[in-house]
Amino acid sequence: MTLRDPFNRPLRDLRISVTDRCNFRCTYCMPAAIYGESYQFLPKSQVLTFEEITRLAGIITRLGAVKIRLTGGEPLMREQVETLVSMLAALDGVDDLTLTTNGYLLPKKAQALKDAGLQRVTVSLDSLDEAVFRQMNGNRAGVQAVLKGIEAAEQVGFDPIKINAVVQRGVNDHTLVEMARYFKERGHTLRFIEYMDVGNRNDWRLEEVVSASEIVARINAEMPLEPVERNYRSEVALRYRYKDGGGEIGVIASVTKPFCGACSRMRLSAEGSIYTCLFAEKGTDLRGPLRDGASDDDIEQIIRQTWGHRIDRYSEERTGITRQRRKVEMYHIGG
Ligand code: GTP
Ligand code: 5AD
Ligand code: SF4
Ligand code: SF4
Repeated sequence: MTLRDPFNRPLRDLRISVTDRCNFRCTYCMPAAIYGESYQFLPKSQVLTFEEITRLAGIITRLGAVKIRLTGGEPLMREQVETLVSMLAALDGVDDLTLTTNGYLLPKKAQALKDAGLQRVTVSLDSLDEAVFRQMNGNRAGVQAVLKGIEAAEQVGFDPIKINAVVQRGVNDHTLVEMARYFKERGHTLRFIEYMDVGNRNDWRLEEVVSASEIVARINAEMPLEPVERNYRSEVALRYRYKDGGGEIGVIASVTKPFCGACSRMRLSAEGSIYTCLFAEKGTDLRGPLRDGASDDDIEQIIRQTWGHRIDRYSEERTGITRQRRKVEMYHIGG
């Protein structure tokens, strides 16, 4: 039976962060000044093993989750992540098994992921302008490296491939029409994400958010668009298709048009805590009980309790005051 929270929101999606590490240093997520050489990421002993993740995912799918997305940090930094993919692919009841990556390691990993049973991938790429992209990722990679990753995903047959671009005013917003044109020609769904105030370390300012409606208007002025229905009720992106039949784009308006009312996502961090909101302050530890010998029923009870008390609707309540709260950092729970 599907689990529901006090607002009657079902548990449908599970986002699993498999590592807190990343080979990029995006300014809005892991600014290099804070996450330098000496930054202490989680020691291996505190990170869930593949067996532990699969056991928890099995319990959570039995409670109603039908979609699993692997995230990080950067999920492809986790050694042998394809082994985890094959373990999750074998679970009953998972209709959609996917992964969000920065793309850098895809040339190496795409085939193994496909063979393991991954169904699709989403690649983050914030600009096609070399200087702008390097500025945004802390100068860790150039545009070509990510385009090669996308090409590798195409070659092994992932379809659809989605591309995520975070839009920050004054940083990359002058390059978004160029991006839309490029991915329209290649038939990939580009999704623009409103810059969010996740965590407490990215110096987020409302002035830097470009609203989804402004993004759509700018693209529509060059390549006419029309809205399309959501694919499923809890989809985060608003969809638009090109009137000339050349594919679609999405906009994720979590700041200007929050979608908490339909939010069905649970997040599992690399160290084994579940979070009921991207902006939560605290998670609920499952690793402790797991390693202390709890049964599946015991764990299920903790998850039921947690979801049963879930009243999060951060984006709908966002104010100057809620923004000051302590929040989990993005790379802990993978967005
Ligand atoms: P699809 O399954 O392809 O629809 O992907 P998705 O949108 O579920 O996942 P993805 O990892 O591509 O996330 C896109 C963006 O939406 C990221 O910036 C996420 O942080 C953001 N996002 C996803 N879920 C939520 C959510 O529940 N709340 C908020 N505020 N943002 C979210
Ligand atoms: N605002 C919006 N999106 C973000 N992402 C990471 N940090 C932020 C932020 N502050 C995006 C990543 C990735 C997705 C999972 O979340 O670029 O595409
Ligand atoms: Fe890494 Fe993704 Fe965060 Fe960029 S947004 S630093 S690629 S985890
Ligand atoms: Fe869900 Fe929290 Fe995002 Fe609202 S802000 S959609 S409750 S994760």
